[in-house]
Amino acid sequence: MSDPVRILISDPLDPETVERFSSSGDVEVVVQTGIDPAELPAVVRQYHGMVVRSGTRVTAEALADPGLLRVIGRAGSGVDNIDLDAATAAGVVVMNTPGGNSVAAAEHTLALLTSLARHLPQAATDLKAGNWNRKRYMGTEVTGKTLGIVGLGRVGREVALRARGMHMEVLGYDPYVSDAVAAELGIAPRTLPDLLAESDFVTLHLPISGDTRHLIDAAAIAAMKPGARLINCARGGLVDEAALASALESGHLAGAALDVFEAEPPDPDGLVGMPGVIATPHLGASTREAQIRVAAEICEKVKNYLLDGTARDAVNPVPKG
Ligand code: NAD
Ligand code: MLT
Repeated sequence: MSDPVRILISDPLDPETVERFSSSGDVEVVVQTGIDPAELPAVVRQYHGMVVRSGTRVTAEALADPGLLRVIGRAGSGVDNIDLDAATAAGVVVMNTPGGNSVAAAEHTLALLTSLARHLPQAATDLKAGNWNRKRYMGTEVTGKTLGIVGLGRVGREVALRARGMHMEVLGYDPYVSDAVAAELGIAPRTLPDLLAESDFVTLHLPISGDTRHLIDAAAIAAMKPGARLINCARGGLVDEAALASALESGHLAGAALDVFEAEPPDPDGLVGMPGVIATPHLGASTREAQIRVAAEICEKVKNYLLDGTARDAVNPVPKG
């Protein structure tokens, strides 16, 4: 009899979904979260498959001697916590769950947008502290305002749909999406400088990479409309946080809503503590529905690859043979 197929789950996933998967009997599942990065290389090599969310950083070091490891599943969309080149060199396939949390991320983005427009977190905190400050929290309507969406993938498109429902003008920039496709989605295509110059709200929905790190730097922020607001529910490194802090300090930007940060958790006394900043702790995908969806989907994908070689939504090359 051959050895059982072993799968490690190294970040918290929906517990009921994990329980159901573990008790299916097809594979042996071990849940071990919070692994010390120094221990990770020795741990991962004992498993055929591994499932992560964004907490585990699967570095080149962790993959240098992969042992039994053949597949890593990411319960979510961004794979920037996994060294894809190292995985490819080690013959390890990486898969994700594109779309599984797009609605959750889009709904969170819209919640941030309306919160920015009406200062909801600041006003609510003030009232709980006993202050009835109706004048301080004069807001702005979003109807008729312009929303610029940078990145017209799964989340960006869901955001566009909802923003149009709120009667916003929607502009979009994505070098990999044709103007015709953008127009079909009701999004007016723009270059990045034009989008920044025309938008009252700018929202980011693209992956982080060497090319996109600090896409929103001091120059991009200076190109934004005075009094505009920035939302980042994608990845922290997309925005130069020091430049954003300066623009808020000077009043060039009226506010920013951030779900993601260059360093997570961020310094509470830094950007997060500024009065014009609304911040949430990387909650974009944190709905019960999305977490059940991505957990169930990635566990099945990893299992199928190990049991019959089917690779779905691989983000690096699948070894042949
Ligand atoms: P996606 O791959 O479906 O879409 C990304 C889009 O970005 C693509 O259309 C791509 O063409 C575009 N893009 C790439 N480079 C670009 C550039 N330089 N300028 C403009 N557009 C560019 O991904 P998605 O599922 O829509 O996710 C978008 C981002 O949101 C990712 O960074 C993902 O990790 C993040 N995300 C965060 C949360 C959260 O919890 N906050 C939840 C889901 C997704
Ligand atoms: C993603 O890229 O899918 C998000 O960051 C959500 C998560 O934290 O899993």
